[in-house]
Amino acid sequence: MRLGDGARIVGQTVRDAMGALVSENDDTKRIPRSCSLWILWRLDAHAAHDYHGGVTHAPVYPHDPIEEVLPDVFMVRGSIRFNAFMRISRNMAILRHAGELTLVNPIRLNEDEEQNLRSLGQVKHIFRLGPFHGLDDAYYVDRFGAELWTAGESKTYPEPKADATLTPGADLPVPDTEVITFAGTRQPEIALLCHRNGGLLLTCDAIQHYGDYRHNTWLARLMMPFIGFPRTTIVGPIWLKFMTPEGGSLEAAFRSLLQHDFDMLLSAHGSFLGRGAHDAVKKAVDKAF
Ligand SMILES: [Fe+2]
Repeated sequence: MRLGDGARIVGQTVRDAMGALVSENDDTKRIPRSCSLWILWRLDAHAAHDYHGGVTHAPVYPHDPIEEVLPDVFMVRGSIRFNAFMRISRNMAILRHAGELTLVNPIRLNEDEEQNLRSLGQVKHIFRLGPFHGLDDAYYVDRFGAELWTAGESKTYPEPKADATLTPGADLPVPDTEVITFAGTRQPEIALLCHRNGGLLLTCDAIQHYGDYRHNTWLARLMMPFIGFPRTTIVGPIWLKFMTPEGGSLEAAFRSLLQHDFDMLLSAHGSFLGRGAHDAVKKAVDKAF
């Protein structure tokens, strides 16, 4: 048996096992049995917390230092750990305006890097673009008094409650930035488009880019191509299955997104795409639909 065959079998085994867990939830009975990563997120949300003064926060997971990708735009390449064998990438964007910071897809940093974050400005806002990310939102709300903006209700992370909603036309704390919704999804998710340097698209799970598999464990690196996460730009396959209404299609939402101009992409997973993002996303959409 070839290595690829083995990985394919492992991937299917994980999908089936996790799919069985999904079916126990009344609200998710119609979800295809391949939502393994989504269920892992849920398990993590309940199992991987530590405690600070009676308030539950997730621990710090391995991450890189803060790096500046554009003037007043920074990113952190980090991770989330599901178990001893599975850790995958997770990214945060940091937008600075007038000395205030907005964290997009927030991830908690170690003490040294948190000091560096504080030196950039005051953490005032956190943006949750998608309903399946929110592990570290409570940390920033409790420790920094950050204002939480979300795309809407999240069944995975019902707490903390949002202070504001990311809707098209919203008066955002970051200028030259607009909200783009993915219309028709089963739970609300949005993308952010920063109109600078040709356009920077910030996404959560809907669109992801993998130039490499940094911060993935060896098992995750082995499995990723076989469960729909090859080294390229993709429409998140598990996200798509979970978010598409029964008998429906989200193609129109992605075609609408392509009406906008952008050249760079930073997703909550994978790596930063510094140019050619529009073409890359178009190819991903064409392949997904
Ligand atoms: Fe995700």
